[in-house]
Amino acid sequence: MNKKKIAVLGGDGIGPEVVSATCLILEKSGFGVDITVLPNGESAFEKFGTVLPEETREVCESADAILFGSANPPSDPIIMYLRWGLGNYVNIRPTKYYRGANSPLKKPEGIDFVILRENSEGMYTYAEGDLSLLQDRLPEFRTRHGKSLADYGKGKFGLRIMTESGMKRFSKFACEFAMKRKNKGYPGEITVVTKSNMFPVTCGMLEKAVQEEIKKYPELSYRRYYVDDMARRLVRFPEKYDVIVTSNLFGDILTDEAAEIAGGLGMAGSGCVGGKVPYFESVHGTAPDIAGKNIANPTGTILSAKYMLDHLGLAREANSLEKALAWVYENREALTVDQGGHASTTEFAEAVLKKIT
Ligand code: NAI
Ligand code: MG
Repeated sequence: MNKKKIAVLGGDGIGPEVVSATCLILEKSGFGVDITVLPNGESAFEKFGTVLPEETREVCESADAILFGSANPPSDPIIMYLRWGLGNYVNIRPTKYYRGANSPLKKPEGIDFVILRENSEGMYTYAEGDLSLLQDRLPEFRTRHGKSLADYGKGKFGLRIMTESGMKRFSKFACEFAMKRKNKGYPGEITVVTKSNMFPVTCGMLEKAVQEEIKKYPELSYRRYYVDDMARRLVRFPEKYDVIVTSNLFGDILTDEAAEIAGGLGMAGSGCVGGKVPYFESVHGTAPDIAGKNIANPTGTILSAKYMLDHLGLAREANSLEKALAWVYENREALTVDQGGHASTTEFAEAVLKKIT
């Protein structure tokens, strides 16, 4: 069998540290993946004058999947490329409690849900600007307060753009995803999270798209909560959810919260799919406060690698990686500082590697 080709981009801050800990496992475990570590981010800028050299893009585009760390704002072109350039419009962000993890909840057992975050639209169209641009062009427009844009005087705007086709493809993905999970024994419950009481047009559009799509799946159920209520529910009843479907910014915020209830931000991984080449990354950022010390928790990136292996059809390898990780948590062996342990990033990865069968 041909080895799956993985392009690896560490990014900045703790990104390269957690990514190389993960690569150590992937390389030494005999999982049969072919890893190429590529120049990118602030370190590449020093050498090549760009955070994303052309050669890096080329290798990414011929890869089966990309494993990414995280980026500081100057390296934003990397994220722009991975999400929009490659067209990865869904961000799959699972939350699962592993026994032994440092959850702040009294009873974290049973937490096992997935947040599907629309990854390409909403507030992340980055359509911001000077209000005068719109004031001049939209003299007839009225806000829900009945005001014209000119009434606001000097200011700035930020647009939240959601398209019909974008919401349709996202809803289709969500229903197919929930169905696949149901076939594995999950309840098949889609929870759509919006703020349609305040944003009936944009949030209403996402709700409608999911309601339309789910009609094709009588085995799936649908419910909807407002995002503020959902933030509370995730803390109080986290075990009650299966597949949570939400727009870009709400998903970004709720997934940091979800990571924390299951044990900590360093533990959450994700996959961005739907485009030319899928890419996999932790939920956390570059953690400048702990970067360069080899103390970051690499679990989020290791779990991202597990989702990557699953996505590539390497189910046995993915299960073996998850089992080894779960063992290390359950036995609280070689855990990192955020988990109340003393192990370094590398020592944690080595402990996981040792348990891979
Ligand atoms: P952050 O996620 O980097 O850090 C938040 C807190 O969590 C920090 O105290 C950090 O030490 C801790 N933390 C994060 N990951 C950890 C790990 N693996 N192990 C142990 N502790 C961990 O978020 P913050 O501080 O808001 O942003 C820092 C930088 O990261 C910013 O420049 C931001 O733009 C960037 N960022 C990049 C992202 C990406 O590349 N996808 C995502 C989020 C932020
Ligand atoms: Mg985030």
